[in-house]
Amino acid sequence: MPDAPILQVANIDKAFPNVRALSDVSLEVYGGEVVAFMGENGAGKSTLLKILSGDYHADSGTVTLDGEPVRFHGPKDARTAGIRVIYQEPEIIPHITVAENVFVGELPKRRGFVDFRELRRRTNKALQDYGFEGFVDVDALGSSLSPAQRHIVEILRALKPGLKVLALDEPTSSLTDDEAALLFKLVGQLREQGIGIIYVSHRLHEIMQIADRIAVLRDGKLVGVRQATDTTESDIVAMMVGRNLTDLFTRDHAIRDQVVLRVANLSSRWHHDISFEIRAGEVLGLAGLIGAGRTELAKVLFGEYARDGGTVSVNDKALVTHHPSDAIAAGIGLAPEDRRGEGLVLVRSVLENTVLAILSRLSRFGIVSPSVMTATGAPLIGKLEVKTPSLDQEVGKLSGGNQQKVVLARWLAARPAVLILDEPTRGIDVGAKAEIYRLIDELASGGIAILLISSEMPELLGLADRILVMRGGTIAGELSRQEASEESILRLAMAHDAEPALAM
Ligand SMILES: Nc1ncnc2c1ncn2[C@@H]1O[C@H](COP(=O)(O)OP(=O)(O)OP(=O)(O)O)[C@@H](O)[C@H]1O
Ligand SMILES: [Mg+2]
Repeated sequence: MPDAPILQVANIDKAFPNVRALSDVSLEVYGGEVVAFMGENGAGKSTLLKILSGDYHADSGTVTLDGEPVRFHGPKDARTAGIRVIYQEPEIIPHITVAENVFVGELPKRRGFVDFRELRRRTNKALQDYGFEGFVDVDALGSSLSPAQRHIVEILRALKPGLKVLALDEPTSSLTDDEAALLFKLVGQLREQGIGIIYVSHRLHEIMQIADRIAVLRDGKLVGVRQATDTTESDIVAMMVGRNLTDLFTRDHAIRDQVVLRVANLSSRWHHDISFEIRAGEVLGLAGLIGAGRTELAKVLFGEYARDGGTVSVNDKALVTHHPSDAIAAGIGLAPEDRRGEGLVLVRSVLENTVLAILSRLSRFGIVSPSVMTATGAPLIGKLEVKTPSLDQEVGKLSGGNQQKVVLARWLAARPAVLILDEPTRGIDVGAKAEIYRLIDELASGGIAILLISSEMPELLGLADRILVMRGGTIAGELSRQEASEESILRLAMAHDAEPALAM
């Protein structure tokens, strides 16, 4: 490792109204190392990255790049200087192609016109160079990409000559294990090229695998920096939460006899012949690889996508859905995977978002009084320990994990008969995860039928009473709690993967 750090931040302070997001943070990153930032939701990780990317100004403190003090007036300055930050929610331009997204702002030109052949060639080469061949079609529109593809496209966009520091904010939260493995390979390649890498993630065990050093933030302060080789996962967790964490999973719920959700021979654009039931108080896990149709199934049940055939009933009442409001009225709730796009009204307050699904229940003569909203919403926000300066804070300004808690608070308020949770702990720290698992257990104990979609195996194995494995738009198999293991799930999820598509 070179003697001088490539990046040095010293005595950084940053406050928002009522929140001290960072206080006196100092840290170095060397070229050719991976430094992980860890910390609970709201600890200040993303804020530090936004200062490095020029999106925020620090209130005080200095940033030094390659020995030179730098001051960024905006993201463009930071990029020019050689720092790139890739955020939790990648910024992909929807109406242009993958290739245009990768080279946006620097499209190859010929005689004044964009040279599309060259553009495709360069994009394909970048995909090849980093082992992502075939992972995404260079001509696909930004809007058609999966979260994983969006992430990779944005990383490729960052990998340009002059790159010194690359920061990734929870890059694997939307990736499958295989995709994450590809990303780790890519990070390894960049480390060898001497780039300084900052890696923010809540997944301890991937941090242990990928990081050289681990920096832990708590309440805006740097608690410590450890060499990954001489620390343990539980040390890091203790540093993050300031205490030792006990059991991650609680399971007190008991399955009742009554079938709440009954799905029979459901078909849609993505699905064929899907049948299953969930009983009151039962947590049914839904496993599968990306593209298996899990999120789409959630949306069909929620009335967002059309069902072409089959029947769905809630508490023995046949369900007809033209719109999510039909599903909500029938007692179905959905906490979607894409919380920023679909789950939350970002510009509205924490409180309004919490009571959103029950506004009609709270209203008198079409009006909801602020005191009624507060009386209903405030206890839930407190219960979930949403870290927010006030109930009136815009949800869009909360940290990622706290936004997710608001989505859950809403369904806690609404108490639906069936609750569909699509990747409920994506981007959530271990401490908050344990709380959310406890909540899911509590919701089930209260008799709610829960459909839990998750790509995190420990989560499915720890919480679900049964697990359905989806593959190619259908149910590949069902596993009881006793039968379920990482291997048995993966075997069902991947079988016949190489089989050619059905001839038309
Ligand atoms: N633009 C903003 N306006 C007001 N408060 C903000 C803003 N951005 C961040 N904060 C607050 O600063 C604190 C740190 O947030 P930050 O997003 O850095 O946390 P984080 O460590 O990235 O958390 P997570 O793991 O949940 O993503 C939080 O209390 C957050 O609510
Ligand atoms: Mg964050």
